[in-house]
Amino acid sequence: MEHEQPSFPPSGLSRRDLLTASVAAVTLGGAPKSLAAPISFDRSAKSAASLASDEAYWRSVARFYDRTEGIVNLEQGYWAKMANPVKDTYFQALEMVNTQTSLYARKDYNADMDKAVMAVADGLGAKPSEIAITENATESFHNLMRQYRGFEPGDGVLMADIDYPAFKRFMRWQAVQNQGPLIEVIIPERANQDEVFQQYLNAFDANPSLKLMLVTHVSNQHGLVVPVARIATEARKRGITVICDAAQSWGLLDFSISDLGVDFAAFNLHKWIGAPLGLGALYISESAIDAIAPFHGDAPEESRSIRARVHPATRNFAATLAIPKAFEFHEAVGPAAKEARLKYLRNLWVAEARSMSHIELLGGTNPASITGISSFRIRGKKTVSDAVSLQKRLEAEFGVFTVMRDGLNGGACVRITPQVFNTPNDIEVLVSAMGKLA
Ligand SMILES: Cc1ncc(COP(=O)(O)O)c(C=O)c1O
Repeated sequence: MEHEQPSFPPSGLSRRDLLTASVAAVTLGGAPKSLAAPISFDRSAKSAASLASDEAYWRSVARFYDRTEGIVNLEQGYWAKMANPVKDTYFQALEMVNTQTSLYARKDYNADMDKAVMAVADGLGAKPSEIAITENATESFHNLMRQYRGFEPGDGVLMADIDYPAFKRFMRWQAVQNQGPLIEVIIPERANQDEVFQQYLNAFDANPSLKLMLVTHVSNQHGLVVPVARIATEARKRGITVICDAAQSWGLLDFSISDLGVDFAAFNLHKWIGAPLGLGALYISESAIDAIAPFHGDAPEESRSIRARVHPATRNFAATLAIPKAFEFHEAVGPAAKEARLKYLRNLWVAEARSMSHIELLGGTNPASITGISSFRIRGKKTVSDAVSLQKRLEAEFGVFTVMRDGLNGGACVRITPQVFNTPNDIEVLVSAMGKLA
């Protein structure tokens, strides 16, 4: 007789019950983790501006993060440490996915993906039909560029020196494919919103063959904010398609998609939103979906589904499951308070550095142009090896971890990026080190 296949789920239990049971079992060994407990902080109706310097508030936030000992880490722009409720949700999802494997992925993952998309759409003020989850902003950017339907031979593309280096390389490659011009806008190393805007406007006027441009909302080099909406309005008048790189900005700044005024954007969820590593998002406005083809051959060419723009492949399913928790934590801390706190920490060291004649500061010069990220170099020391040795000195002599950035037209620098759990004491260590660099 044929061996009888056990039925699954066993009678009386839904498969969802079993998944829940397996998650519960995971918690038995260690301290109970109340994943369902709402996260809340006492903001006592304070404004974001007054919360920025409220040390008790930020201590209460920092308690949700595991501490890094032995070094002051001011290189938090790579990706984000998860807050513990997000980490717990992720690890437990990982246990469940590892236990259930294909059973989960083939049957229940799509519904969980819908919830994750909903959380991203809510956070961004977009429609769920305008959002797809990706593995990172780079994947989103590639989907937009590689599947863009509008290129014709000779079309020009535009980028700026402050853009992300790998995306600049892609734009160079794209210009070669188009056999069209590559326009590079050079942004002054110290600039306000009007000065940045003017550089783009000049480039538009000088280059009528432009078809598509990359614009970076917040530069990874020195945290400069680019006035994306103003630039996009001018680009639209000239028929230029705008691809917005918002990889570094979302969560660092508090904004909605309507503030950017673009049809196409690439986001990260593993930076300032605090979701697990390996998560990004793609935004395409509903009205502009036809400009981007479905992923090569994955769906009929006339498909208008945003998910058809991203190849699903085999992904880290558990990471997706933690997206709603990441937004819950981000919202509980308060996106506006977070933006204000990070700028406050930045202003603490920048204010001191202004009076150090041996330090050259880079980035925004007015409040609308700055973020929690900024950069500096030793005056006149602009080569990559200058900046590498500055980074090494800060680490070896003063116990401050930073990162060298190379890509600005004006030269290399060291980037300083605090997170919400960094303290004014951490900044003091940096300031004291900077004073001794002369
Ligand atoms: C401005 C900007 N664009 C794009 C990226 C690429 O992000 P990811 O490697 O997560 O795709 C980064 C990462 O630091 C960035 O800062």
